[in-house]
Amino acid sequence: MDYLNYAKEYLMNTYNHLPVVFTHGEGCKLFDTDNKEYLDFTSGIGVMSLGYGNKNWIKAVEAQLEKVVHTSNIFLNIPVLELAKKFTEISNMTKVFFCNSGAEANEGAIKLARKYSFDKHGKARNTILTLKKSFHGRTITTLKAGGQEKLHKYFYPFTEGFKYAEANVEELEKSIDSSICAIMIEPIQGEGGINPLSEEFVHKVFGIAEKEDILVICDEIQCGIGRTGKIYGFNNYGVCPDIISTAKGLGGGLPIGAVLCNEKLNNTFEYGDHGSTFGGNPVCAAGALEVLNIISENSFLEEVSEKGKFVKEYFKSKNKKNILEVRGMGLMIGIEIEGEASRVQKKALQKGLLVLTAGPNVVRLLPPLIISKEELEAGLNTLYEIIEEE
Ligand SMILES: Cc1ncc(COP(=O)(O)O)c(C=O)c1O
Repeated sequence: MDYLNYAKEYLMNTYNHLPVVFTHGEGCKLFDTDNKEYLDFTSGIGVMSLGYGNKNWIKAVEAQLEKVVHTSNIFLNIPVLELAKKFTEISNMTKVFFCNSGAEANEGAIKLARKYSFDKHGKARNTILTLKKSFHGRTITTLKAGGQEKLHKYFYPFTEGFKYAEANVEELEKSIDSSICAIMIEPIQGEGGINPLSEEFVHKVFGIAEKEDILVICDEIQCGIGRTGKIYGFNNYGVCPDIISTAKGLGGGLPIGAVLCNEKLNNTFEYGDHGSTFGGNPVCAAGALEVLNIISENSFLEEVSEKGKFVKEYFKSKNKKNILEVRGMGLMIGIEIEGEASRVQKKALQKGLLVLTAGPNVVRLLPPLIISKEELEAGLNTLYEIIEEE
């Protein structure tokens, strides 16, 4: 089968596929149709945190597949209840709503914030402040929530009620007015170029929010679930939001998203306010529970931090001509380079290494969290050579 021509003929043109088709994976390796091996620094864009073929995860999912796959939310199921307990406990939150994706989680978070504000402050207080360079998803509402002009094209009319600020204290203070009901941030911006927010800025957001009864929503879809060496990106700042949206790494490869809230919002959603046919699917919930069990075990997260430090140290020790900056936290790393990140991505693919980009000049690394230092070093050697070869 000529896969790439099949794709051209039958799939909508939404993705710029790289010329490779993977048939299977093991640990941090993927194998293509010619059985060529690739080291994966992408984890399916931050999804496959446990790598490919984790035995405990497969066991948990297979056991649930055999019992019951789907029942709908008219009925309860056991994995979703177990997951809800574990998830709220390790998140320091009180309630959770399950859905299928990041964008859907953010839609839920936005609805929850607006309903809270409607109930408490009336109809006019409905604006969500988000940040320039942010990305929150691709539905009509979440496209508009993203603070990048390039997202706000063609698909008019967008949902109203969003305002954008640069991630600095001065702009933040200027942007607060009586219409703001929530501030939504990615603690470490992903698609926007791997930009960790500054401590000062994050503390200012939480300070203003507390004073004005403005809710803080942390979009943890890319930086959450262990990615930065803590359960959530915001844990690196010593703060705790009112609402968390999460997805990607949560399911270990199966589609699941979630909105978590604190006590303040426990009773905001009432019967009929929100829902999702597949949300809380027992198979996805069984997989997610295994992911949370594994990442909250023993020293798993400390090891992620250690590996993140190892990557930073690696680049510190090297001569750099084309590497302008290495930033990020844990295993969420952005390498800003002189030249095109897509050139590096294509060259790396030829050499059996998979990397991501985040904007034109940033090579983005999101390896599986289980990656070994040896694998990291081998991939970094290849990457360094490619970036510095011109
Ligand atoms: C921070 C952030 N929010 C939301 C989304 C949207 O998630 P999904 O593609 O699962 O809808 C993404 C996806 O890249 C993301 O990185």
